[in-house]
Amino acid sequence: MKRRGDKLTMLTAYDAPSALLADRAGVELILVGDTAAMVMLGHESTLPVTLDEMIFLTRAVTRAARRPLVIGDLPFGSYEISDEQAVASALRLVKEGGADLVKLEGAGRMASRVRAIAESGIGVMGHVGLTPQSATRLGGFRAQGRTAASALALLDDALSLEQAGAVALVLEAVPAPVAAAISERLSLPTIGIGAGAACDGQVLVWHDLLGLYAGPTPRFVRRYAELAGEIAAALESYVADVRSGSFPEERHTYSIPEQELAGFEQALGERAGP
Ligand code: KIV
Repeated sequence: MKRRGDKLTMLTAYDAPSALLADRAGVELILVGDTAAMVMLGHESTLPVTLDEMIFLTRAVTRAARRPLVIGDLPFGSYEISDEQAVASALRLVKEGGADLVKLEGAGRMASRVRAIAESGIGVMGHVGLTPQSATRLGGFRAQGRTAASALALLDDALSLEQAGAVALVLEAVPAPVAAAISERLSLPTIGIGAGAACDGQVLVWHDLLGLYAGPTPRFVRRYAELAGEIAAALESYVADVRSGSFPEERHTYSIPEQELAGFEQALGERAGP
């Protein structure tokens, strides 16, 4: 698709119904991102989610997604220690979670993790720019590559991941001209999030796109729906209907043949006590 100039679409999903909808919408890639920690599990950062939890979520997605490639995100703590740890974690995401590819954050010594995973036969997606697992070290959730030197370092990181065997690369919160220059120099596809339109594809987080996340929304998000408001209104109507007795109605109930009901009532009458 990159060679043809066709844009790739990627979306996060964390459960089977969302994966089915994403598949039907025609996305090529579903990322079971470690953003699950925040948007699904209620944590304040992506750091606490465990490999077991990521496998559980990935499994739900791969049960439903048929056509898109599913990428399982390696969570913080599952690949930093050694290449061996990275390969073992990636194998679990593929074998137990059913992921087609895995993703990890960072470059530098992470290039060696990418190489080790790729050599074990598993496709790896890299992720550079704003890498939320290292947000503290980066000084918070802020754009990266905004000086000539850091933009050049970002390009070198991207090249090193491609050389290590990455099959695709997420560029997060990177100035658009820098992301464009990186995308032009790589043969692997770049997937941008807050990295401008010249990337080979785009990714958005499910809850951001649909207006479901109560936390702050990054400037690079376009909301395509405001579902939190719609869901809240539906839930309030349900609560009010139950309280007023207007739900359930006759059509929501099951019938019993008259004869059986009469028998039941007679048996009740013959029973002593309440
Ligand atoms: O975990 C995630 O959802 C991600 C995307 C923001 C790219 O890494």
